[in-house]
Amino acid sequence: MSLELADVERAYGDAVALRGVDLTVRDGEFFTLVGPSGCGKTTTLRCIAGLETPDAGAVRFDGTDVSGVPPEDRNVGVVFQHYALFPTMTVRENVAYGLRFDPPAGESVEERVDDLLALVDLTGMGERDPDELSGGQRQRVALARALAPAPDVLLLDEPLSALDARLRDELRLELKRVQRELGVTTVYVTHDQAEALAVSDRLAVMNDGRVAQVGDPESVYENPETRFVAAFLGENNCLDGRAVGGETRGSLVRVGDASFTVAGDYRGAVTCCIRPESLDVNASHNRFEARVAESEFLGDGYRVHFDWNGRSVVARLDDAPTGRVTLGFDPDDAVVLER
Ligand SMILES: Nc1ncnc2c1ncn2[C@@H]1O[C@H](COP(=O)(O)OP(=O)(O)OP(=O)(O)O)[C@@H](O)[C@H]1O
Ligand SMILES: [Mg+2]
Repeated sequence: MSLELADVERAYGDAVALRGVDLTVRDGEFFTLVGPSGCGKTTTLRCIAGLETPDAGAVRFDGTDVSGVPPEDRNVGVVFQHYALFPTMTVRENVAYGLRFDPPAGESVEERVDDLLALVDLTGMGERDPDELSGGQRQRVALARALAPAPDVLLLDEPLSALDARLRDELRLELKRVQRELGVTTVYVTHDQAEALAVSDRLAVMNDGRVAQVGDPESVYENPETRFVAAFLGENNCLDGRAVGGETRGSLVRVGDASFTVAGDYRGAVTCCIRPESLDVNASHNRFEARVAESEFLGDGYRVHFDWNGRSVVARLDDAPTGRVTLGFDPDDAVVLER
């Protein structure tokens, strides 16, 4: 099942949640909506589920407009952040509840529930009550319940955000495995950019009720089109400067007192975006001297915060230097955005 949102708008009184959202989700894709709090992710998901009616624009399933189709007829499974399981029902009963409108064809409810519990790695837990489960196990039950009627579309709204970091990493792999196995078209909502980069076939970065950029994780990370995307998806040093063009291979950009060479032909006001991992103490190009302000140990290296003539610059380094340090970066590693 493919999904399409065409110029979808939604306001709550004066609060505009969606300002014209255009999106296409391909059949079988793991598609992620990522963006800061309040940017419209949940509202977008609710419009797909039919829990929210757009003020304008269209939602299409396989090319067919679904306005007027109630949520229960859209064949959509939903898991929310706190999708409360029914506390007085066992795990098995909770999952079977997902089958209340759609009894399985060709197998018993018992068999179907067993298959679903095996799918989410909860074999043997069927007779437990929800309060006898960990947070991660509860979300697996919620997932099994959402998948019970074999939905065409799976919608997941921050299903892992209440879990601790390790469990989150574990479960997101699990989620991806289940999604692949079933091939169900999935829209996943998160405000965690690392999670979005890790799990998605493609993702949409949202900002202020609009889609800022769509693409596969690598291409959006490597080629952000706006300063917002550059800074939101992964860390970035966004340095405003003025390009004067004219280098043999690239352009010269003045940032404060420094001049950097970047690839491509640019003129006028630009922002140079340089990833922390692109800054290096041994770089032979674009060198500048900055003062160490703070270092954080990350296990596999350090995140070092520098003060460069009043500007904050962050680098990922193997060691934690002190005092004044010369950093540099390869001209090809800067993403240049025209302002
Ligand atoms: N029922 C509502 N009534 C009034 N305003 C609402 C309602 N639902 C959402 N909004 C507003 O619409 C905007 C988008 O909300 P939405 O819940 O879609 O954001 P979100 O991206 O899911 O945020 P979060 O990451 O915090 O969950 C916000 O400004 C929010 O305050
Ligand atoms: Mg939300």
